Amino acid sequence: MIGVFDSGHGGLTVLRALVEAAPDRPFVYLGDHAAAPYGPRSEEDIYRLTVQGVERLFAQDCRLVVLACNTAAAVALRRMQRTWLPHAHPGRNVLGVLVPMVEAITRVPWMQEGPSADWLPEPRTVGVFATPATVASGSFPREIGKRAPDVRVVQQACPDLVPLIEQGAPDAVIAPVVRGYVACLLEQLGGETPDAVVLGCTHYPLVARLFADALPAGVEVLCQPSLVAKSLDNYLERHPEYAPRGGGAAPRFFTTGAAEPVGVLAGRFFGRPTAFERLHQ
Ligand code: DGL
Repeated sequence: MIGVFDSGHGGLTVLRALVEAAPDRPFVYLGDHAAAPYGPRSEEDIYRLTVQGVERLFAQDCRLVVLACNTAAAVALRRMQRTWLPHAHPGRNVLGVLVPMVEAITRVPWMQEGPSADWLPEPRTVGVFATPATVASGSFPREIGKRAPDVRVVQQACPDLVPLIEQGAPDAVIAPVVRGYVACLLEQLGGETPDAVVLGCTHYPLVARLFADALPAGVEVLCQPSLVAKSLDNYLERHPEYAPRGGGAAPRFFTTGAAEPVGVLAGRFFGRPTAFERLHQ
């Protein structure tokens, strides 16, 4: 099994792309709805909750877990991989959603030396919309800067978006909030139009159209789900030891919250009805 983890519903946008790309691959989803949102939490809190979520997925027989949550990946992943995973769970691995996005921005996969001829030129100015914790971690500017130091990266925290999306607020309520964050980002850029923007939270693909409507024409809007699906395929080709044996099983959905209301809203994120089971320790 491959585990997919998020603080709540957002990771379902990623799971949906993963299932569409490989319908026979067995997935287990865990949303930590009881503790969502992670965005306003402290670094220590996010680390502790993410380790706990991954432990729960390992206990469900997953050898590989995808953190389908930028906040968890930005704040906790490096520390988990360095200080916890190798001794607590040798032979298991955890991947994040940031690297596939950084690859898309810099047009260069990590394992490749330089850009290949068919890649588009990299954007010069990139705006990142993300949760307050992801912005504070500095992960997007740091990782983009390592690979493409000439790219200007401007970040905008969007503290109100995840709670509204988790509640299932209608577009009419969310649109002015998105317009406000877009205006703040453009103001930071002092009139310059970004070449591309990153929707750096797995909840945001659900309101991608609202971002596109609020941005000046011609700005490329980069969403993670399909990028992560491509990147997972690539990873499993290079690391067949993590490829699940057997297949054909429908995904299973777990939550730390109340299963019934979570299942009702989750259908919107996953694109079809989903029955959640409450995970008891
Ligand atoms: N969907 C998550 C992300 O990608 C987390 C949102 C939150 O819990 O604040 O950042």
